[in-house]
Amino acid sequence: MRLSSFLGLAQTVAIAALGALALPAYETNELVARDGQKYVFAHFIVGIVASYTQDDWTADMKLAQSIGIDGFALNIGKDGYNDQQLGYAYDAAAALNFSVFISFDFHYWTNDDVAAIAQNLTAYSAKPAQFKVGEAAFVSSFVGDGYDWGSTATQAGIQLYACPNWQSGSFAGASGVSCGFSWNAWASENNSPIDQNITTDGDNAYISALGSMPYMMPISPWFNTHYGPAPSYDKNWIFYSDWQWNLRWQQALQLAPQFLEILTWNDFGESHYIGPLHPDNTDVYAGGATGAVQWVTGMPHDAWRDVAAPYIKAFKAGAQSPTVDTEELVFYYRPSPKDAPCSDSVPQPTGYDDDDDSVFVIAMTTSDGTVVITSGSNAPVSIPVSAGITTVSAPMATGTQTFELLHGTTSAMKGSGDLQVSSDCTVYNFNAFVGSVTASS
Ligand SMILES: *[C@@H]1O[C@H](CO)[C@@H](O)[C@H](O)[C@H]1NC(C)=O
Ligand SMILES: *[C@@H]1O[C@H](CO)[C@@H](O)[C@H](O)[C@H]1NC(C)=O
Ligand SMILES: *[C@@H]1O[C@H](CO)[C@@H](O)[C@H](O)[C@H]1NC(C)=O
Repeated sequence: MRLSSFLGLAQTVAIAALGALALPAYETNELVARDGQKYVFAHFIVGIVASYTQDDWTADMKLAQSIGIDGFALNIGKDGYNDQQLGYAYDAAAALNFSVFISFDFHYWTNDDVAAIAQNLTAYSAKPAQFKVGEAAFVSSFVGDGYDWGSTATQAGIQLYACPNWQSGSFAGASGVSCGFSWNAWASENNSPIDQNITTDGDNAYISALGSMPYMMPISPWFNTHYGPAPSYDKNWIFYSDWQWNLRWQQALQLAPQFLEILTWNDFGESHYIGPLHPDNTDVYAGGATGAVQWVTGMPHDAWRDVAAPYIKAFKAGAQSPTVDTEELVFYYRPSPKDAPCSDSVPQPTGYDDDDDSVFVIAMTTSDGTVVITSGSNAPVSIPVSAGITTVSAPMATGTQTFELLHGTTSAMKGSGDLQVSSDCTVYNFNAFVGSVTASS
């Protein structure tokens, strides 16, 4: 009762305030198109950082900002600590000139939650770090098909630039939507693994359904999740990601959408984080001792950010290819051969057999060279690369993984991964171990 009478009041105030201000969605699209500016965001799961301090937020944001990411999409469910953590996030961002916006997770929110969503948007969009298009506060979602963003803006009494993730990919009859965000960041068929590299087919279908509205393209390095069986948590599959990270960035340059959203900064449960690990803070691994901590501990992904940096620069410049300023070999590999018999009560994730038993290098070079991969006891494999960013691979063998870049016969850099590949394993871990070799390492 109290809620509905409050609502009535908010609505009246909102309509009065809006009169002269509201821009129809197409005019804000015009603004985006006219200034032509492109933006890159990273998806941040607020639900797993209950114990973050503002300093933790600042540290993560500095890392993101250092590779050209403009802001975090703050994914929220209905956790009691949202307001505290969103407060830290908006304050940390403001101090860094970084941007943030809320991404409502409709696994938790429903289409009937207009009043609560509007209330949150009124509160947070007034803060200086709120990402805006023109005067309109940017907002996004995970799912939420058919959610009424038009009524939300009216109730909130502000202009909104809504870029929701409608899984149907159909925006016919949408209210108050300015842009669309696909979640189709991995090769799959009906959300099941397939033995194929990702293509832009899903993006193109989404783009055509959007008509003239801008597209926010999802971009992700990996997917592995390995939670136990039903009824507790039936979630145990991979999407084929062997070549994905560099390939997806090439697709982003080619498609050149208005917005990119990296999936994700910190979703450890699905192994597609590019943010740092938090070894002293395992509650951020969603599921504690029985969950992601098993496939995330000791598995950094930080060096993947080094690949993103030149691509983000190229994306913002509208270039078709990235420019490498500093040479680096970014390598990644799984901790065990795929058929290693691990002492794990949960079977291998669905789709595991599609992975190749290979080790991979994304070579970032300023001139032509040769990448030499020595995997365990295998003989060294030499692969020529041209200047630029190229993914190469070699068959995986257990033991130490060593990577070298030659220019002619001169060694430019050489180093080994801190993790040995081993068949002696307690977890079917199809997450990637990521590291890098540079001239100074
Ligand atoms: C803040 O960021 C915006 C956009 O990224 C930029 O145009 C502006 O110059 C920055 N301001 C400061 C004080 O760094
Ligand atoms: C956001 O919505 C939730 C759920 O209704 C509410 O508990 C919270 O106080 C809201 N936050 C703000 C700042 O309005
Ligand atoms: C993915 O692309 C790479 C590089 O072109 C290729 O070597 C690999 O076989 C492809 N994977 C699949 C499953 O087609």
